[in-house]
Amino acid sequence: GLGVAVLGSGMAVPGKVVTNQDLEKMVDTSDQWIVERTGIRTRFVAEEGVLTSDISEEASRMALERAGISPEDLDLILVGTNSPDTLFPSVAAKLQGRLGAVKAGAADVQSGCTGSLYALAMGASFVASGVFKYILVVGAEVLSRLVDWNDRNTCVLFGDGAGAVVLGPARDEGLSGRVLGFSLKADGAKHDLITLMGGLVEHPASHETVDQGLHWVKMKGNDVFKFVNREIPPFLDGFLGEMGFAPGDVSSWVFHQANWRIMEGVLRRLGVPEERAVVNLDKYGNTSCASIMMALHEAIVSGRIRKGDKVVISSFGAGMTYGAMLMEF
Ligand code: ACO
Repeated sequence: GLGVAVLGSGMAVPGKVVTNQDLEKMVDTSDQWIVERTGIRTRFVAEEGVLTSDISEEASRMALERAGISPEDLDLILVGTNSPDTLFPSVAAKLQGRLGAVKAGAADVQSGCTGSLYALAMGASFVASGVFKYILVVGAEVLSRLVDWNDRNTCVLFGDGAGAVVLGPARDEGLSGRVLGFSLKADGAKHDLITLMGGLVEHPASHETVDQGLHWVKMKGNDVFKFVNREIPPFLDGFLGEMGFAPGDVSSWVFHQANWRIMEGVLRRLGVPEERAVVNLDKYGNTSCASIMMALHEAIVSGRIRKGDKVVISSFGAGMTYGAMLMEF
């Protein structure tokens, strides 16, 4: 291993549950279509005024408490997000101030839904190198403010939420996930598959960009679906092979919770029984950067992950970017 482990985890979701039946009243869709195509039944949507930094703080306090680390011990805060409160300052900087993490640096990591996995890998590398000791890594989104609630292609998929972990030197006591290795990839030629174009340098905010809806998430869903089904299984097989393991050695797979059909298809291609997938997208939808963090937290606290288990965390998202991390608990 790299001598670094997940010492504690936490999560938070904002208060309001939106069901598929609620969505039937807003766009031309059906509970049956959403469940059959994605596996999603409900998602949480932040109330007006609730920010990504708010739910990040709640998840972070839980992770710090479970790790037994105080904010003053933190050397760095990394937040993976595609829906920061503002482009700048970063969510991480606001979080640093609110937690009173006096000695910590802070930065957001933007890499589509893979941002939180990139942040985990960066944090793990800082601890492994000995440069930093304790790092807070958060994945958090209030994407509900960035989707077009009249676009059935996207609004049924996403949900709001936050997950957090504290990384630090591996411990013998308790249940901590030791990082054995990771791989980060990108295929930037496919940058047009998932976009939010408006209000920045290429399309500065104007009445036209608003009329065209460029401030909303746009996604070529079926192209994303095909990309992931083609690229991810051989990638995961190769990644595990380089680490000296086979897919069958992995007890739990913590996939990005985008679509149950994607998880099921990837595991089938790897020859792994589908029960090995950690699934919570039925409750939370696709929470983008929060999804692997929330799924990992729930798998730990529910007792699903046990000491000695090997766990793969894998995500994909806008960019296109993707990656994986192998842990041993
Ligand atoms: N309700 C009813 N019908 C719908 C809905 C809806 N909510 N959304 C789309 N449809 C229709 C389409 O218009 C289309 O109709 P048509 O055949 O008359 O044109 C039909 O359903 C099929 O559409 P497809 O897009 O081909 O359906 P598909 O089986 O691919 O499922 C889905 C769509 C669920 C989006 C799937 O492609 C998917 O999950 N893709 C991956 C998306 C993903 O993972 N994105 C996350 C990336 S993470 C990030 O960085 C944000």
